[in-house]
Amino acid sequence: MFAFNALKMGESHVFTSTKSLQSVLYTEYENLTIGFLPTMGALHHGHLELAKKALKENDKVVVSIFVNPTQFNKTEDLENYPRDLNADLKLLKTVGDVIVFTPSVEQIYPKDYQNLEIELGNLGTTMEGEFRPGHFVGVMNVVNRLFEIVQPTKAYFGIKDVQQVAVVQFMVDQVKSPVEIVACDIIREPSGLASSSRNYRLSIDELDEAVLIIETLRFAREMAKEYLPKETRKKAIEFFNQGTLKIEYFEIVHPRTLEFIEEWVPGAIACIAGYCGDVRLLDNLQLLPKK
Ligand code: PAJ
Repeated sequence: MFAFNALKMGESHVFTSTKSLQSVLYTEYENLTIGFLPTMGALHHGHLELAKKALKENDKVVVSIFVNPTQFNKTEDLENYPRDLNADLKLLKTVGDVIVFTPSVEQIYPKDYQNLEIELGNLGTTMEGEFRPGHFVGVMNVVNRLFEIVQPTKAYFGIKDVQQVAVVQFMVDQVKSPVEIVACDIIREPSGLASSSRNYRLSIDELDEAVLIIETLRFAREMAKEYLPKETRKKAIEFFNQGTLKIEYFEIVHPRTLEFIEEWVPGAIACIAGYCGDVRLLDNLQLLPKK
C-alpha cells in the first residue's frame, strides 16, 4: 500500500523522499485533511502536544524531521544539533498514527532552488532576528518549501517561538498560500519552564535557576496592571538581574507586528531570551488579554 521507500515503524510511516511521500498524499489521501507539524527532531513533550492537537483536528498528520542548515547562523550549532531518529520515532508512536517525513538536504534544496523574495522587515531583524541574523530567512524558506511538498490543510506552530509564528503567517499571507497556520499554546514543565530539548542540558541546580525566566514574565504581567510598557520592562529587567541568569533581551511588543510598544495594546506580549550557564533559553507571555 505504501510507496517503495516508506518504512512502516509501528504506527509511524517514515518517508525519506519527496516523491514517495507525495505519491501517498496526492493519491490515497487526496480528499483528506492533512495536519502538518514541521520539526527539527530532538522531540520532547512540547512537540508531542502539538502532534496530538493536529491528530485531533485532521484526518492525517505529517510530522517532518529536518534539521534545516539555512536557519543556523553558527556552524557549530548546526553540527551539534541533537539527532536521534529512533528516539523521535518512539516518542511519536506514543501519540498515534502519524506520517514522518525525514528528507535529505538535497530533497529540500534542489540545485535550482531559489530563495523567496520576501522582505521581512522588522519581523526578521528584531529580537531573535537581531541575535541570529538570517535565521528567519532560513525558517521562512524551509517552511515554504515543506508546505509546497506536503500541501497541508493546517500547519501547527508553537507560540514558544512567537516570532517564528509571526514570520510564517506573514510569509503565508505574502505568497497567498491556502495553509491555515495554527498557533499553539506554550507547553510548560510543572515548574513553569517552557519545554525544550535545551532543558536536558541544564543541571539540577540550573533547572531551578531557569525558572527565573517564567517568574520574570509573570512579574511583568503583574507590573503591567500598574505601569506603562517602558516602566514594566525596566522593572522586569531589574527583577531578572537579581538572579544568576544573563539577559540577552527583554522586550514588550505588539502581538502581530512584534514592534516595541509605548502604550498598552490588547494581547501585548513580553519576550525574553537569556542564558542559564551556556544554555540559551527563550520564552514569552501575553501580558494583556487579546480583547
Ligand atoms: P523545532 O524547534 O523542532 O520546533 C518545532 C515546533 O515545535 C515549533 O513550532 C516550536 O515552536 C514548537 N515547540 C517547541 N517547544 C514547544 C513548547 N514548549 N510549547 C509549544 N510548542 C513548542 O521550530 C523549529 O523546529 C524550526 O524552526 C522549524 C519550524 C521546523 C523550521 O525548520
